[in-house]
Amino acid sequence: MNTYIEQNKDRFLDELFDFLRIPSVSADSKFQPDMLRAAEFVKEKLLAAGLDKAEICPTAGHPIVYAEKIVDASLPTILVYGHYDVQPADPYELWDSPPFEPTIKVTKNHPDGAIFARGSCDDKGQIYMHVKAIEMMLAQGGLPCNVKIMFEGEEEVGSENLGVFVKANKEKLAADLILISDTSIIANDIPSVETGLRGLTYMEVAVTGPNRDLHSGVYGGAVANPVNVLCQMIASMHDADGKVTIKGFYDKVAELSQAERDDLESAPFDLEEYKKDLDIAEVAGEKGYTTRERASIRPTLDVNGIWGGYTGEGSKTVLPSKAFAKISMRLVPDQDWEEIADLFEAHFKAIAPPTVKVEVTRHHGGQPYVTPTDSAGYKAAVLALEEAFGKKPVPTRGGGSIPIVALFEQELGLKSILLGFGLDSDALHSPNEHYGLFNFFKGIETIPLFFKHYAELMK
Ligand code: BES
Ligand code: MN
Ligand code: MN
Repeated sequence: MNTYIEQNKDRFLDELFDFLRIPSVSADSKFQPDMLRAAEFVKEKLLAAGLDKAEICPTAGHPIVYAEKIVDASLPTILVYGHYDVQPADPYELWDSPPFEPTIKVTKNHPDGAIFARGSCDDKGQIYMHVKAIEMMLAQGGLPCNVKIMFEGEEEVGSENLGVFVKANKEKLAADLILISDTSIIANDIPSVETGLRGLTYMEVAVTGPNRDLHSGVYGGAVANPVNVLCQMIASMHDADGKVTIKGFYDKVAELSQAERDDLESAPFDLEEYKKDLDIAEVAGEKGYTTRERASIRPTLDVNGIWGGYTGEGSKTVLPSKAFAKISMRLVPDQDWEEIADLFEAHFKAIAPPTVKVEVTRHHGGQPYVTPTDSAGYKAAVLALEEAFGKKPVPTRGGGSIPIVALFEQELGLKSILLGFGLDSDALHSPNEHYGLFNFFKGIETIPLFFKHYAELMK
């Protein structure tokens, strides 16, 4: 660890802990005052780090925090993006320590300790690395590149207002590249760079049978049960080979060459460990693809939630009137999220039996994204990680989505570099989310190296 980090590490952690204590849950309006507090907190820390023009930009939803430091117009400009909002902490009872009271504990993958708190990894811990890395660069001789910071508060709910902000502020956001720490590395001794993100189409469906809940003895067997029907409809959306049966679903999927597939497969992966970690006897998925391929370069369809009928204590005999499900699809290049939403809607309506009525609504979505590995930004990421970890990083394709990344490219013409430091096992979105102390400090060390190498490569 370099001396500046060594000397300031306790303060860095204290500050991050204060940040993590603010429950910045974007999805739930009861946390709206906390969202403002979180935005205010980062803005103040950006100013304290030495950035100029730190401001809170209101939107129709949660505000965006912006700051910049232009040291020399002739130097390249890096736009750092991240999010200060977090997923809801529910279910609270499954947390071993309170989600908004950060606690350090040792885990198998983090023998030096990890910070347990909602948002520790996704993404407050990771955006805070940038704030501290910039503080360190400014304290130690200055920035080798200009920097602009844009931290939003709506990533976990679809980034709709950020899209509006980006379209309206192209001049302000002009840069050479976008740098994002909101993804994972393979392991703390296996650095990697994600070179792609999946897109997302998120739908909700409602199935209505009879006009009211019925006695399941009096009517059961004679009237279609919408929960049964919905389950059958969902089950039919995968075939025996694990393929999605929606017509046209795979039409635009870019197939990788065998060489590209071999390259991605060469990254270390232990299937037995993977199964053991999840406590599953077997993996599942699309025939003809490996576990890693299924979770990165292939599209999927998953039920995120399903409800209807009686779910309270004990038993109630009822034939429910309605059934609902939230269904999402992860997309890969060159699928288009709105086209997939249309295909889903048409398919769902087509397979509905005449015994029920169905309604289909769409939530948010986003396009898939790939980073070109021959770009200066990607090369700078590889050099920075190699210098910080003492090991060459391997390219991986991520399975998660950051829908705004494709919009950045479309609206600003900028590519994004995914320089994330989390681990897939850090329980993002789950109870007991955590972020390794090693990862937090390694990130702070790597970011200035990225700036240095990027400035050199752009000369
Ligand atoms: N940081 C994640 C995405 C991620 C996680 C990418 C791990 C790669 C590795 C991001 O905050 C996220 O959770 N995105 C959502 C999409 C959003 C629209 C709710 C997702 O992927 O489910
Ligand atoms: Mn995130
Ligand atoms: Mn997330």
